[in-house]
Amino acid sequence: MSHELPPGVERVLFTAEEIERRVAELGAEISERYRGKELKLIGILKGSVFFLTALARAITIPVKVDFLAISSFANPGSSGLVRIAKDLDDRIEGEDVMLVEDIIDTGFTVRYLLRNLAGRGPNSIALCTLLDRTSRRIVQVPVDFRCFEIGDHFVIGYGLDHKQLYRNLDCIAVMNPEMLKKST
Ligand code: IMP
Ligand code: MG
Repeated sequence: MSHELPPGVERVLFTAEEIERRVAELGAEISERYRGKELKLIGILKGSVFFLTALARAITIPVKVDFLAISSFANPGSSGLVRIAKDLDDRIEGEDVMLVEDIIDTGFTVRYLLRNLAGRGPNSIALCTLLDRTSRRIVQVPVDFRCFEIGDHFVIGYGLDHKQLYRNLDCIAVMNPEMLKKST
């Protein structure tokens, strides 16, 4: 089953099959890196949920899952001010944890979260992202695992939204910049 693409979409960047293949590779790489250990995946609501659940199924070592939600003031990346709106359910002290994000843009969101989580005494923290848009980075963050690097386009699908819509597209697509201007 394939989704009909919404009118604001310019082109597909990654098909469902391409994403599935890459997630499987990454899952194997992560399983190898953490062999003999347990890993806690920490998803940032809501965008990373779609990626996290696929990744978790591609990992063959024991995995735990927890989520947090953030509120960033004004537009993503514009202020760098991030707060935790919903915290993790459980402690992470002594655990190997991996922060899972949908896209890293300026880096402000994950820098804040990595620092916050580091203060809770985990055994290790890694950062994993579906998409990495390095051309717009303002603060440097250590990306341990990523599926794809992308150029400077606004993207939707596979968890990524525009005004909360399109998260359920099974592919990752570029929004038409004219449509973005009109609707913001
Ligand atoms: P950062 O703090 O600038 O790295 O912002 C990252 C956050 O901005 C992501 O978690 C997304 O929620 C949002 N974001 C950045 N670029 C896009 C995009 O192209 N599509 C949808 N959301 C985006
Ligand atoms: Mg997000």
